[in-house]
Amino acid sequence: MASNRTLLVLPGDGIGPEVMNEVRKIIAWMGKKRAVGFDIQEDVVGGAALDKHGVPLSDDTMKLALEADAVLFGSVGGPKWDTADFSKKPERGLLRLRKEMDLFANLRPAKVFDALVDASSLKPEIVKGLDIMIIRELTSGVYFGEPRGRHTNAQGEVEAFDTQRYTAGEIRRVCAVAFELARKRKNKVLSAEKANVMHTGVLWREEATKLHKEQYADVKLEHMYADALAMQLLRSPNQFDVIVTDNLFGDILSDEASMLTGSLGLLPSASLGAPDATGRRKALYEPIHGSAPDIAGKGLANPIAETLSYAMMLRYSFDLGREADLVEQAVENVLAAGYRTGDLMVGKTEGTKKVGTQEMGDAIVRELDRLA
Ligand code: IPM
Ligand code: MN
Repeated sequence: MASNRTLLVLPGDGIGPEVMNEVRKIIAWMGKKRAVGFDIQEDVVGGAALDKHGVPLSDDTMKLALEADAVLFGSVGGPKWDTADFSKKPERGLLRLRKEMDLFANLRPAKVFDALVDASSLKPEIVKGLDIMIIRELTSGVYFGEPRGRHTNAQGEVEAFDTQRYTAGEIRRVCAVAFELARKRKNKVLSAEKANVMHTGVLWREEATKLHKEQYADVKLEHMYADALAMQLLRSPNQFDVIVTDNLFGDILSDEASMLTGSLGLLPSASLGAPDATGRRKALYEPIHGSAPDIAGKGLANPIAETLSYAMMLRYSFDLGREADLVEQAVENVLAAGYRTGDLMVGKTEGTKKVGTQEMGDAIVRELDRLA
């Protein structure tokens, strides 16, 4: 369907293409039943791009991404490319997209569906009703800081180094996103760093505190060391609402948070840039899971994280909150009806039905039909 919304689809490697196929069904459904269409372009990224073009992201693809209203991303990487030169690793494709699109705010919601409260590795009473939002800084910190590399040092020993680096502005802009979002939620922000051992942590805490005083004093702000947060997320995750933290801590803590919800296969994310003069912001939507090479190509992967990433796209890039709600509701209902991909077959499984990737996707589309 022709539309004025442009979308670049990058399925990538491993389970990426499989889960993206299920989202295509939902995209088609939205076009047909709700007149929500996109001008879609599709391209390769990661290992697939390495095979085709010799680089994990071609300049042409980069250009398409910069021009699109939104990018829907699958996953990258796999053992096939483990021996690729560091600068050509599949992951570099994703990192280049994040950096050149300047997607500094990565929103990673972790929500526990009632139907899955037993799939969590924690006790149901600890995770029931959980609904937190981790905001991970995505374009700076140790992922990008210079100098980085390896050399043989003066003692003749091989040494490798990365640099954790943040400017005040980088900290402020991601904290601002956290405060803004908190105002639409429970009005609470937890900022996490290691101010006890890292200079970047000290600056992070100072800037978060200053910005809060200047512009967001109505929001409750607390600070915690990232290690303590890792512990508190397991002890009593419900005390949190919005969590804001740096690139590396955010990477680790969001994987931890995903297991509170039962599976890495459930969590979507939105990576957003700053709004331009017209209010439009560059955006890329991706599940937080990776390419899962162990189950790739077997029709076993859970398409829910990619589906919910698409829902986040509807909400954040196209202001289609009702359609996003509809997709999220369909996912919730399908889980409540007992449909489970293999990753969710943990805890109590009576009354559930084990399904593959396609069956899960079909069930979601059928539920959309029923809801609409
Ligand atoms: C993620 C992933 C990526 C990261 C990899 C694939 C580069 O783990 O999005 O969390 O480390 O940021
Ligand atoms: Mn990660």
